Amino acid sequence: MATRARTTSTAAATTPILRARNLHRILGTGDAASHILHGVELAIEPHSYVAIVGASGSGKSTLLYLLGGLDRPSQGDYDPNDRYVPFDPPSRVFIDGRDTTELDDVELALLRNARIGFVFQFHYLLKEFTAQENVALPMLKRGHVSRSEALDRAAHLLDRLQLGGKLKRRANRLSGGEQQRVAIARALANEPAVILADEPTGNLDKHNSERVAEVFHELAAAGQTIVMVTHDPAFARRARRIITMEDGRIMADDRPPDGAASSQVGPQPNLPDANPRALS
Ligand SMILES: Nc1ncnc2c1ncn2[C@@H]1O[C@H](COP(=O)(O)OP(=O)(O)O)[C@@H](O)[C@H]1O
Ligand SMILES: [Mg+2]
Repeated sequence: MATRARTTSTAAATTPILRARNLHRILGTGDAASHILHGVELAIEPHSYVAIVGASGSGKSTLLYLLGGLDRPSQGDYDPNDRYVPFDPPSRVFIDGRDTTELDDVELALLRNARIGFVFQFHYLLKEFTAQENVALPMLKRGHVSRSEALDRAAHLLDRLQLGGKLKRRANRLSGGEQQRVAIARALANEPAVILADEPTGNLDKHNSERVAEVFHELAAAGQTIVMVTHDPAFARRARRIITMEDGRIMADDRPPDGAASSQVGPQPNLPDANPRALS
């Protein structure tokens, strides 16, 4: 199968921030076991803005959590004779080029906290804490900054998300849209290499959805790598790459801005040609 020529330029090859290789996930055991992801191949390059779309149950969240190290790949399955057969090549997720299967749970959590910011459909803010404290928390947990530095930086992030006037407001006294923007600020707290967002507008009205879409657009324009799952076609179209999932497989991988990349997916190139976008 023809793939685009591997780049052999002397420029340093870009290590994808996230990479899935022959990614499988089986959930449940015995007769209830269900094969959710079937050998997904995916590389997320720095500064990319990716939307993952597909019907409910197609494996989008499962993929996102695996990419983010919140879950671990399955390594094999039972054949019809009940013999365990390891996947070949091995099912792997790489974060910053590091094979996560070589990390224990503590090491994986440290890598995740340092490199990945999560935004979920439900924001999971600490209700009794202020917006500013919620955003400062991941920085304090990581322990690289003092409390006052963390609070200062939290204020700065909230200001960037136009919540500068609500720093001291308790999370449960913010509107749904404001709470989701606090959650985005929290995800940015440790300057993550990538934001992973699972239906970040799924619980918001139209107006607030548009605001969140605008925030993502601005973050992406500033160079933030984002991978988001969304059901909202208008939101997805703003991404620079749209991955369509179906029954645990990637069915299409489109890069619409250049108008060239629409494709049905056969065997995928491991590393799509780097397509760095100028950052202002
Ligand atoms: N713990 C589980 N045990 C068995 N099946 C599960 C479990 N969690 C999710 N699934 C199934 O995995 C499939 C994919 O789920 P998910 O990744 O959440 O899909 P999506 O995010 O695209 O809606 C669904 O069919 C779902 O029912
Ligand atoms: Mg989901």
